[in-house]
Amino acid sequence: MKREHDSITSVMMEERVFAPSVQFSKGAHVSGTKQLASITSRAAKDPVTFWERQASALSWFAPWKTAMKWKYPHVQWFVGGRLNASYNCLDRHIISWRRTKAALIWEGEDGTVRTFTYQQLHTEVCKCANALVSLGIQQGDVVGIYMGMVPEAVISMLACSRIGATHNVVFGGFSSDAVAERMNDSKAVALITQDVAQRRGEHVHLKLAVNEALKSCPTIKNVIVCKRSDEPTKMKAGRDHWFHDLINAASHVSTAASLPSEHPLFILYTSGSTGKPKGILHTTGGYLTQVAYTARMVFDLKDDDVYFCTADIGWITGHSYIVYGPLANGATLLMYEGAPNWPEPDRFWRLIEKHRVSIFYTAPTAIRAFMKWGESWPRKHDLTSLRLLGTVGEPINPEAWMWYYNVIGQMRCPIVDTWWQTETGSIMISPLPGASKTKPGTATRPLPGILADVVRRDGTPCAANEGGLLVIKHPWPAMLRTIYGDDERYLNSYWKEFPKKRNHPGWYFTGDGARKDESGNIWIIGRVDDVVNVSGHRLGTAEIESALVSHRHVAEAAVVARPDEIKGNALVAFVTLKSNVNADLQNLREELRNHVGKEIGHIAKPDEIRFTDALPKTRSGKIMRRLLRELVTRGDVTGDTTTLEDRGVLERLRVADEE
Ligand code: PRX
Repeated sequence: MKREHDSITSVMMEERVFAPSVQFSKGAHVSGTKQLASITSRAAKDPVTFWERQASALSWFAPWKTAMKWKYPHVQWFVGGRLNASYNCLDRHIISWRRTKAALIWEGEDGTVRTFTYQQLHTEVCKCANALVSLGIQQGDVVGIYMGMVPEAVISMLACSRIGATHNVVFGGFSSDAVAERMNDSKAVALITQDVAQRRGEHVHLKLAVNEALKSCPTIKNVIVCKRSDEPTKMKAGRDHWFHDLINAASHVSTAASLPSEHPLFILYTSGSTGKPKGILHTTGGYLTQVAYTARMVFDLKDDDVYFCTADIGWITGHSYIVYGPLANGATLLMYEGAPNWPEPDRFWRLIEKHRVSIFYTAPTAIRAFMKWGESWPRKHDLTSLRLLGTVGEPINPEAWMWYYNVIGQMRCPIVDTWWQTETGSIMISPLPGASKTKPGTATRPLPGILADVVRRDGTPCAANEGGLLVIKHPWPAMLRTIYGDDERYLNSYWKEFPKKRNHPGWYFTGDGARKDESGNIWIIGRVDDVVNVSGHRLGTAEIESALVSHRHVAEAAVVARPDEIKGNALVAFVTLKSNVNADLQNLREELRNHVGKEIGHIAKPDEIRFTDALPKTRSGKIMRRLLRELVTRGDVTGDTTTLEDRGVLERLRVADEE
């Protein structure tokens, strides 16, 4: 009998190969496949020594005594060592020529630009740290941050880490309920917010949501409010304080706390497919070591780069690759406040042209939106400053990869497709841009020091191109330490699939299905929860979606299964068309089915195709297939929809279903 997850049939085959130009390779931190292979094989033999070498690139107040302590399933890195993340991101740069270098260039949605040199950012962070101390916030306290994309969000995070408070950032698009749940679960003592955040020319009333949330958050004693508008704001005496009043009264002298390597740096909540959100706990030394190393290597960061990551600070990408990784390297960041299509769909391209951005890191969902809006928007702008492109968050379908490569990178920029998770803290599988040969749709291979593999359910390695489960076989420095307040859930979520046994060390299960091709490239098939079984074949929905999106009329697609008496499962595809399509929908349905048949095989042909103007997504842009699955199986959605970006989408899909 075939067991669940035993084997996932992978149907996507991609043959196009792209190598970096000689010129790019020559100037890169790691040049050529040979150099990368030799670093990787040495690191694989002794990952702990490899990571020790990377940790030495940080500034430590006291050296570690033990590089790694592993007591399944808990790890500690650089034990005995002391350091401070804020010090590593700021203080060590201001004693060098970087003191006057731009650390953060911020552009508001209204076009206002604010630039902070490393010295200026340091001063703001020190004042903010002192302001927190003046409110009685201490080492070990949890501080919530619920803000939009403003410099004060970065300043607040670094101020927390400076004094040893653990930050808990909640994405500014979440509701008051989500804030309350996350503050209560983490027992936060204070919350930093804004009166309003600016989004698509409108005000999002964060402080009002906070007022609502705090009706049920007894642990929060102080609220710090950053002013972003002239709107009057109700402040509660004794509890609410204006950010700038506190900062202006605070001294700019602050010594960064000397913290143990395993001091909790932050908690970040991520939604599981069921149940309440998980508070992913990251600590200081290991996390900073790996994000600093990967930011430098994967983005090939140089001192003259202008680096633009479009993620929100409320996601792990914002934590690791807006704040800690780039700043630990003394990089120049561009941070943008608003929406990509405000006031028009060329805002990112306008930003790149204006600030001469050289490295651009975004998500496949955004790339598909750019494709939908059409290439006339990027074509209007000078994008010649770009030298490297990155993507993260979901499998990138080859069609979107090629568009990104041709239209945005103008066939000049390597693309780093970076696979990682909130839990991994840091990029794990990715090309190194001066060394790797890339293929559209694969994150290529594990980075040096990362032992990732694709295995069957019984733990045996999959054959080349056989779909299986993606596991990490050796602890890595930026690994989550636990789920805050629920260690049992930590064990059950990540270690149950391949537990420690006699003769087996226990492996971390990522929850992703993947296959490894004959050259060792890893292709993510998607979450195993999103795998469908059709006539006895387990197929990754990502691959069918990718086939649909390769049709010239399709902008985006999501495929789910509903039970079918004959086939076990029938496939239902939700399809969004490109803006300019004017086709007969009935004919197009048939054309799309045949297209999938041609690309993958008749087994993967959707039984039903539903056209929709939008798909239900999380705030970070992930398609919520769980909701679509409910819709097609039960005709309604009853599960948790709190992380859904636009509830109207479900309503429209329901109506379409009834028609
Ligand atoms: O399924 C994988 C997908 O996103 C999941 C992690 O989501 P999250 O914790 O929200 O973190 C996203 C930002 C790091 C993974 O388990 N994923 C992420 N990056 C990729 C990806 N799938 C394919 N290719 C990627 N590059």
